[in-house]
Amino acid sequence: MTDTLTIPRPDDWHLHLRDGAMLQGVVAHTAAHFARAIIMPNLVPPVVTGADAAAYRDRIMAAVPASMTFEPLMTLYLTEATEADDVAQAQASGLVKAVKLYPAGATTNSQSGVSNFDNVQGVLERMAEIGLPLCVHGEVTDADIDIFDREAVFIDRVLDPLRKRVPGLRVVMEHVTTADAVAYVQADTGGNLAATITTHHLIINRNHILAGGIRPHYYCLPVAKREKHRLALRSAVCAGDDRFFLGTDSAPHTDAAKLLPCGCAGIFTAPNTMSCLAHVFEEDGALAALEGFASRNGPAFYKLPVNTATMTLTKQSDPVLYPEFIETGAGNVTVFDPGFDLFWRVES
Ligand code: DOR
Ligand code: ZN
Repeated sequence: MTDTLTIPRPDDWHLHLRDGAMLQGVVAHTAAHFARAIIMPNLVPPVVTGADAAAYRDRIMAAVPASMTFEPLMTLYLTEATEADDVAQAQASGLVKAVKLYPAGATTNSQSGVSNFDNVQGVLERMAEIGLPLCVHGEVTDADIDIFDREAVFIDRVLDPLRKRVPGLRVVMEHVTTADAVAYVQADTGGNLAATITTHHLIINRNHILAGGIRPHYYCLPVAKREKHRLALRSAVCAGDDRFFLGTDSAPHTDAAKLLPCGCAGIFTAPNTMSCLAHVFEEDGALAALEGFASRNGPAFYKLPVNTATMTLTKQSDPVLYPEFIETGAGNVTVFDPGFDLFWRVES
């Protein structure tokens, strides 16, 4: 039985750190395990310009404990007013590693997102030219589309036409949740399309949210789908397909905000993600594929070096205990409960 696993230090290719007291409270939970993370720009107001991203990076670095090493990889929030020159400059300076597309109204703090794609064509063309990836929240927002179908419909109606209008654009489909998205990524042979998958979407399906009582701490967007979709995600990652990599979408909200009659979308997985993933990959007989998913496939797509530092996980016979919630200056934040005991512990 394998009970020790050493891999290059993982990165998180989709992370929400927020700002202020919440940032202070959560950043160490990521920095403790991950060398780098792609930082989502959906603050209020959003991180739109290179100057916004530089200031946000400074606030993040100021919140990282001195004993830890962590590199935030910044992103810009695409709006219909985004300027191609500003984006190009932010990339050229090394500050920004991707631009994030939120369809307007798709999720938390996405009011400033894109409604009319004609208005971002010029920016997307420039991004294709300079090789800057577009990270896509892939859900349509139309009220007449069932929430469980929004990802699949987005691929047909928005993503595929967009990729045809901007040949060469490098695209990361973020937090994919369906067999449809897996198939779409796998059908691509051009090398310009990849997808992130969260820890929680490998573990929960929609029953976890809704059966036997409503569980707000499992509510996120895109919402978890049917079991067959979860299994399609598991197959893709456990097969070692290098177009898929880890983006936790760890998205802290206070318990007070999660437990409202209209609660926020987001699951906080930063503290126990690596323990959960080791469990999942081992369960599917694919522990060897964890290294690609968490440490190698992301850097390859983003054309960045694999981390030279390492992480060692060990399997112990007693469950590894994680707190039910963490305390932050903004309020308590519940930690993702995978629903089973975890035995893989991050040693270093
Ligand atoms: O569940 C989610 N939470 N999905 C998103 O797309 C946004 C995120 C957040 O910012 O809370
Ligand atoms: Zn997200």
